[in-house]
Amino acid sequence: GKGKVAATFPWEFMIKLGVNIDHVATLRQVRRATEPDILQAALEAIKGGADGITIHLREDRRHIQDQDVFAISKKIRVPLNLEMSLAPEIVRIALDVNPEKVCLVPERRQELTTEGGLAVSKEVKRVSRAVSVLTKRGIVVSLFIAPSEKEVRAAYQSGAQYVEFHTGEYAHAQTSKARARELVRLKQAAVLAHSLGLGVNAGHGLNYQNVQAVCQVPHLDELNIGHSIVSRAVFTGLRSAVSEMKPLIRKSS
Ligand code: PXP
Repeated sequence: GKGKVAATFPWEFMIKLGVNIDHVATLRQVRRATEPDILQAALEAIKGGADGITIHLREDRRHIQDQDVFAISKKIRVPLNLEMSLAPEIVRIALDVNPEKVCLVPERRQELTTEGGLAVSKEVKRVSRAVSVLTKRGIVVSLFIAPSEKEVRAAYQSGAQYVEFHTGEYAHAQTSKARARELVRLKQAAVLAHSLGLGVNAGHGLNYQNVQAVCQVPHLDELNIGHSIVSRAVFTGLRSAVSEMKPLIRKSS
């Protein structure tokens, strides 16, 4: 409330913005060319206010390439969040790169983007093994999951430090009623995750129109946003597209 303003500090209202720059690499890969330069994209996003850079090294290498991951991890001064599947080959690369964070996601080759959350409850053992090797290397691991009690509890069991809630259902909701229902699911899942000591991130399908309502979800540490920012960047440049997103992702008091 208003009365508390004097006793609070700006950073209490901050939610971090992780900028996913995969689709800068998508544009490069459609021509197997060298431009646009992915490292330049990372640096421009940071100049625009990105608190972290997120990239997804997919098994099919459709956008981000192995050398991108190494180059970006060496050159940026904000945390690198590597999104990846549980494939042993990719886990080995992650151990080699040693990013600050890894977000484990499901991956099906034919999908256009990451379609659903990781079904941690169906494969707690396999997920736990990956979490364990990554955590031992000092990497902070999050699991990309649906905002459900079952998956939050499974994520907790797996030993991960963070969950990243899949906001796709929220973002794609067709009616205001459906959108409100998804927001309630996100809030309840966030409260449960926090009570278990898990950090809370969220992402997927967030844009300049729908992001502010998501900021009502309690305990949010970071939002990861890609497609909408890179799309706006075509017209405004990446630095400005990121800086326009930043003021929208403050915690609602
Ligand atoms: N978080 C995760 C785990 C994702 O897989 C993606 C998509 O790569 C995003 C966030 C960003 O989604 P979008 O590109 O729709 O903003």
